[in-house]
Amino acid sequence: MDKGAPIGVFDSGVGGLTVLDEIQRLLPHESLLYVADCGHIPYGEKSPAFILERSRTVAEFFRKRGAKAFVIACNTATVAAVADLRQDYPDWPLVGMEPAVKPAAAATRSGVVGVLATTGTLQSAKFAALLDRFATDVRVITQPCPGLVELIETGDLVSPALRTMLQGYVEPLLNAGCDTIILGCTHYPFLKPLLEQMLPPSIILIDTGAAVARQLKRLLGERDLIGTDKPEHAQFWTSGDVDHLRNILPTLWKYPGVVSSFGS
Ligand code: DGL
Repeated sequence: MDKGAPIGVFDSGVGGLTVLDEIQRLLPHESLLYVADCGHIPYGEKSPAFILERSRTVAEFFRKRGAKAFVIACNTATVAAVADLRQDYPDWPLVGMEPAVKPAAAATRSGVVGVLATTGTLQSAKFAALLDRFATDVRVITQPCPGLVELIETGDLVSPALRTMLQGYVEPLLNAGCDTIILGCTHYPFLKPLLEQMLPPSIILIDTGAAVARQLKRLLGERDLIGTDKPEHAQFWTSGDVDHLRNILPTLWKYPGVVSSFGS
């Protein structure tokens, strides 16, 4: 591995771009590769075995391109695959992500924290362990959000249909007294502007994109692998419709990027 090698970033779709943005900001001299597994989205309702198999396929794809690190920019794929991938590639810097329960427990004043995430994440043993570890002194209200990821994947961040769906998901959290809401799926930070319009200003929204970028920087730094060249542009692959990703990318990613097909 050398400093000039790329970093591979992966999500079921465009959600991981919220993490890629944090990586780009913190590590501007890296060459970034991104795979959106849009042909198999949503992961939130898929079996862990299926998600592990997809994650392994993407990991191998990045290995073949000489990636010096692998970021699973997806909470759902992290619970399903990170442990196995760490075993598969013990020497490869690998960063996963999980809902920000610890910072939310520290931030809440009302003592009630809400978690918006996929069904897969909320049902996982890893999430239960996270609550056991960091949420013993607070009440946690979980809210799965089926359908939300699919709307975001169309590039819709503002429509009345999206607003209505989102309202239905945040209302139970507000009614339960949550003053802090964890965005536990990497797609949801795209909805922050809309959420900020819909929610009382006192509500704190927490996501983990910036923390993931910091962890990546730390792992690369320890290995003297932080890039120093100005990269040409990020490269994107999708297992879904290439033209669709090309069309919506400019609204979700403000830097140059080239989109190719990942195959099925
Ligand atoms: N973006 C993913 C996450 O962070 C999941 C979206 C999906 O359901 O595919 O959990």
